[in-house]
Amino acid sequence: MQKEIVVSGIRSTGFLHLGNYFGAIHNYLKMQEDYNCYFFVADFHSLTTHPDPKDLKQSVFRVAAENIASGLDPEKVALYAQTDVPEIPELYLLMNMLAYKGELEKVPTFKDKVRLSPDNVNAGLLTYPVLMAADILIHRAVKVPVGKDQEQHLEMARNFANRFNTRYNIDLFPEPHVFRFDNNTVKIMSLDGNGKMSKSENQNATIYLNDEDEVIRKKIMKAKTDSGPAEPNAEMPDYIQNLFDLMKLVAPADTYEHFKSSYDSCNIRYGDFKKQLAEDMVNFVAPIRTRAQDLQKDEAQLQRILKLGAEKARASAAKTLSEARKAIGINYY
Ligand code: TRP
Repeated sequence: MQKEIVVSGIRSTGFLHLGNYFGAIHNYLKMQEDYNCYFFVADFHSLTTHPDPKDLKQSVFRVAAENIASGLDPEKVALYAQTDVPEIPELYLLMNMLAYKGELEKVPTFKDKVRLSPDNVNAGLLTYPVLMAADILIHRAVKVPVGKDQEQHLEMARNFANRFNTRYNIDLFPEPHVFRFDNNTVKIMSLDGNGKMSKSENQNATIYLNDEDEVIRKKIMKAKTDSGPAEPNAEMPDYIQNLFDLMKLVAPADTYEHFKSSYDSCNIRYGDFKKQLAEDMVNFVAPIRTRAQDLQKDEAQLQRILKLGAEKARASAAKTLSEARKAIGINYY
């Protein structure tokens, strides 16, 4: 049986952190075994904010390296840079003819951007969902592992797919749907208890995959705690729960059980707890960081990997694009 097709884009802005790891990458690792996966660095998308040309390559390579260091296998999946697949912008152009200004202006992420940077409301920003639809539809993917904040974009991708199929009376694009591997994916909160870990904000309360050991220790030791539970088996405030969640993810089960029962019996000393968590966190992050650093030093290797990914992606993309062109009537020769 043919494997189902999965597509996901990774933003190339900012450093990957634990929230990305346990939210997205962790799921990619499971998916790469069972699905036909296309994972790409969304570098076209990053151009909406005009990154410094000097930095672009490095951020793309860093994201690729961090994903590979986390366990993504470029032999199993197609891992590529979006800008290496020219079929994507062509499909984006074709899809733009079916996207209406009104529906694009209504998208909440667009409205947020307009509010946050009113001086840079460019057409690329407005048509961001069209490009994202092209990313997905170019491989005729049916499953898209993304967070809640992307659901509206996915709904638009379904609309564009159906609109194309209806207009050209063809069954070319299947509907893509949000895909969660398991529903108990933990949300990793910021260590100061304010919101989620972030690629750009709260840097002292976010653990990045490239943080050095000492930085990790410092951040964990500074994590928000309080004077401890007031009664046995008390419910945990969310910032304490978050530290326990992290421990569960990175520490051996008996370590977690030990501190959980000391919490439940009101004997917990948060200093000791955080010290242990810091050590387990260092043991978890350090190998990923080292692998990613080694890979980033080996530019030729990363280039080989991305080229291989682009070849796989283009093979699939070219088929879809040629059918789309034909459906529209672009077949002159
Ligand atoms: N918009 C996504 C994000 O901000 C990134 C993305 C771009 C994407 N194209 C995609 C995700 C296609 C899934 C499929 O995280």
